[in-house]
Amino acid sequence: MNALQRDLKKMVARVERADAPRAAADPARQRYHIMPPIGWLNDPNGLCKVGDTYHVFYQYGPFDVNGGVKHWGHATSTDLAHWQPQPPMLYPDEPFDCHGAYSGSALYDEGVLYLYYTGNVKHPGNFDYIKAGRGHNTCLATSRDGVTADTKQCLMTNADYPADLSCHVRDPKVFAFDGRWYMVQGARTLADKGEVLVFVSDDKLHWRHCNTITTPEPFGYMWECPDLFRLNGQWFLAVSPQGAPSQNVYACGYFPLYGDWRGECTLGKFREFDWGFDFYAPQSFEDGSRRLQLAWMGMPDAPYDNAPTVRCGWQHCLSVPCELTARGDRLLRNPAPELAALRGAGELFAIVPGAVWHGTACDLQCEILDPQTPFALTLRGGLELKFADGMLTLAFADSKIAAGRTVRKAEIGALHDVRVLMDESSAEIFVNGGETVLSTRFYPAPNAVGLYFTAGCGRAVVYEMHKG
Ligand code: FRU
Repeated sequence: MNALQRDLKKMVARVERADAPRAAADPARQRYHIMPPIGWLNDPNGLCKVGDTYHVFYQYGPFDVNGGVKHWGHATSTDLAHWQPQPPMLYPDEPFDCHGAYSGSALYDEGVLYLYYTGNVKHPGNFDYIKAGRGHNTCLATSRDGVTADTKQCLMTNADYPADLSCHVRDPKVFAFDGRWYMVQGARTLADKGEVLVFVSDDKLHWRHCNTITTPEPFGYMWECPDLFRLNGQWFLAVSPQGAPSQNVYACGYFPLYGDWRGECTLGKFREFDWGFDFYAPQSFEDGSRRLQLAWMGMPDAPYDNAPTVRCGWQHCLSVPCELTARGDRLLRNPAPELAALRGAGELFAIVPGAVWHGTACDLQCEILDPQTPFALTLRGGLELKFADGMLTLAFADSKIAAGRTVRKAEIGALHDVRVLMDESSAEIFVNGGETVLSTRFYPAPNAVGLYFTAGCGRAVVYEMHKG
């Protein structure tokens, strides 16, 4: 470890010690979502399970509540419900990652955790930092104990990527397939088209570009955080495209992929993962026979914010861990069953106008009797979920709790079931068995009524959720 590395480690530990009590005392602090101890969080990174331990890393800006230079924050769990904060795993402390250890992924092989990430470098000068002035290096850190990085190296620089690309090539996602190692990275071409690069390796260190996947017509100018996986026999390519149509500033979703992604392949219809305000840059990983996904419960460059937490020196959290399942060319998303470990006693009640539950963090499950009957549920006195005429609407009746968020809509046709995982400052709403999901942050008054129904007919059970 060189002097800079030692100093940076000490500085992060010092600001965390100084600022964490203020963040922890914030009434908007979540009970069971992964949050940064202080400062800023964005994408989940390096998701994996080693032995009995789940590792979640995340983009972490300890020095700046609005972003700053990115580190890899770290939390571990043995049950996906209770998370232990760990010291940061990656610091921007090498010439090849000095302006940020950007997003990436993990491989575990023969006792070593391999963390692939993008080393962000901004050269001083008068550059646009898109076509010139920026280095996006493919970097590798290794760790034997899963808590500290033993080695760091730069594997590829922009010179190793195809010549028609801008400087924006990032977010390596690595996986094993057919006895070899593969990596996908998101890219922006010089002509501002988003695409995904596929690399192959036999030793995890030397990588060769072997394919590029994109749409025939441009679908946005940059594809961030690609994730390529097979579920139930169908391949899917998940990306967060910038510049593609969406209710949000940036889209976030997946294409079914047909053919061989190592050669000839085509992408099917793009579908968004989420219909709320705050869901971006998800990453998935294999856990035995299932695939789990976490996302950043946020949205870059959004016209809304999280001002109440920013005042307390922290911002953003991750989504709950969810299981992805495939139905044909569609993905369903539902909370990992392990979250049930956080439930208190359940309370059963009939969904009728006027039914009320008092509390904050909860797991609410509603079974709807008639799938066409209008349904309306108000969360914490001001966030309304409504269904009528085939349309689901999430809207803020009380703009004070919205921090700038307004309305989101999803055409769902019929309403069969609704599950809401609500925390102190977020709601994740899973509809029709995970076919449609809406995620949002919000900032209710501490004494606001937990939930009440103003329309609908059915049965509900609500569990208070304890601290994770
Ligand atoms: C997505 C993203 C990634 C990048 C990271 C930097 O939110 O822009 O493409 O690696 O965030 O924090």
